[in-house]
Amino acid sequence: MTGDQRKIFVTSALPYANGSIHIGHLLEAIQTDIWVRFQKIRGHDCLYLCADDAHGTPIMLSAEQEGVTPETLIARVHAEHQRDYAGFEIGFDNFYTTHSRENREFAETIYTRLNEKGYIKRRTIKQFYDPVKEMFLPDRFIRGECPFCRAQEQYGDSCEACNRTYAPTDLVNPVSSVSGATPIEKESEHYFFNLPEFESVLQDWIRAGRLQPEVANKLDEWFEAGLKEWDISRDTPYFGFEIPGAPGKYFYVWVDAPMGYFASLKNLLDREGLDVAAFIAADSAAEMYHFIGKDIMYFHTLFWPAVLHGSNHRMPTNVFVHGFLTVDGQKMSKSRGTFINARTYLDHLDPEYLRYYFAAKSGGGVDDIDLNLNDFQQRVNADLVGKVVNIASRCAGFINKRFAGQLGAVVHDEGLLEEFVAAGESIAASCEAREYAKAMRGIMALADRANQYIDRHKPWVIAKEDGRDDELQNICSTALNLFRILIIYLKPVLPGLAENSEAFLDIQPLSWDDLSAPLLNHRIKKFKPLLARVEKDKIDAVIEDSKENLLIN
Ligand code: 2FM
Ligand code: ZN
Repeated sequence: MTGDQRKIFVTSALPYANGSIHIGHLLEAIQTDIWVRFQKIRGHDCLYLCADDAHGTPIMLSAEQEGVTPETLIARVHAEHQRDYAGFEIGFDNFYTTHSRENREFAETIYTRLNEKGYIKRRTIKQFYDPVKEMFLPDRFIRGECPFCRAQEQYGDSCEACNRTYAPTDLVNPVSSVSGATPIEKESEHYFFNLPEFESVLQDWIRAGRLQPEVANKLDEWFEAGLKEWDISRDTPYFGFEIPGAPGKYFYVWVDAPMGYFASLKNLLDREGLDVAAFIAADSAAEMYHFIGKDIMYFHTLFWPAVLHGSNHRMPTNVFVHGFLTVDGQKMSKSRGTFINARTYLDHLDPEYLRYYFAAKSGGGVDDIDLNLNDFQQRVNADLVGKVVNIASRCAGFINKRFAGQLGAVVHDEGLLEEFVAAGESIAASCEAREYAKAMRGIMALADRANQYIDRHKPWVIAKEDGRDDELQNICSTALNLFRILIIYLKPVLPGLAENSEAFLDIQPLSWDDLSAPLLNHRIKKFKPLLARVEKDKIDAVIEDSKENLLIN
């Protein structure tokens, strides 16, 4: 594997530093983590980076409401986020923050380069201003009547009743949700990034890249509509980085957010004495992938690649877009108890259930994914407990009791074992393409074959017959070897089950290279249940507690 070892840098979108991690974040983190673990187990040099997205008006105001500094707020949330992701076995190589020394450096140098090359323009614009709070108001902090359908209490950018978009100044009877005052219009000079200048560079990048077809289509729509200059500055008071040479002006949070990917990487590499340039320089041979939700495509497929190119950095190798998560067919809802926080889930259920379920539902496209709670319980129990773990539990007892844990010396069905090994290539191809659902179907079909093998040879019958000890030992050992292969395939999805299985088999951590050498003449440990069934009352408890969170908050 070393000959064609790839150097890969992977990210999940940075969660905002003022809210809890919920199962929507986890869909993406789990999809990313599976891909990264898959690359690692295949022997590639792959790094997984993430961070908190710590800047912006909402975080500044949340801190103020709590009566703490933004720094205090983001430090607390950072610890919570790290703990929650770890609870779901998300194996970041680094989880950093955009409010960091490294990120300030990136923001300043990238901006300075863009400015020197003439990609930054200045222009005075008029915006809503809260005269009481003395601050400019982001669209989301202005409410009023929709100018089209007159629905009340609509945000400043779009109407949830009629779905139309408009400028905040179009709202009828606008009110600042910060102070309740009527906003006034006020002028201020803003800094703009000249995105339209990058149209042909972006077109080339899109053509060269392997964007999902839905993403490429969306980009075509945006090109047709025409690219617009991007407003990258915000006026004080703002929690973020000040723009060099522009006192009182700050980088808009979305400017330094994706730079946070680099900051997190640099922070990691500095600790290891390595150079970040190998990953981010214009001529870098490393691959760079961003996993994101479809709502933030514009930032990752237009602004970010253009900023990178304009500042002499490499562009992303690809951007992998996923859809939204629904629960039982509907948008996650606080009142229905389906707005499930990571912590609430972990209070009752094993993270591996959700990892498996999301894998089993992920087709690699941008379609929304539904967490159907009945299906979740049934699928996890049927596949993982009923099929995979069952192989081991049906055979381990004989090896433990009759042969003091010793596996046989020969494989009883070479052909079957070879078939399991050969299936690895198509499973790997599906994982590489993020078609985890297809990979899981392939693995479960193999699990069925392994159980059929046991059914056919009936070790429980052979065990009662004299003179068939070797046969019994070799059949059970073969089944355990089939199980071991399935665990290699499942390891990126179920690192916990893999670890339990490695302990049971008494072997070193499994990797893809271990496929070809079966485990023979080897002593295993006593079998302990490797994974418990999903119980309905535990799912109910998650939903109940999620409703309670609503009352507390
Ligand atoms: O949409 C969000 O939740 C943003 N915080 C994602 C940022 S991703 C990256 F660009 F930083
Ligand atoms: Zn409307």
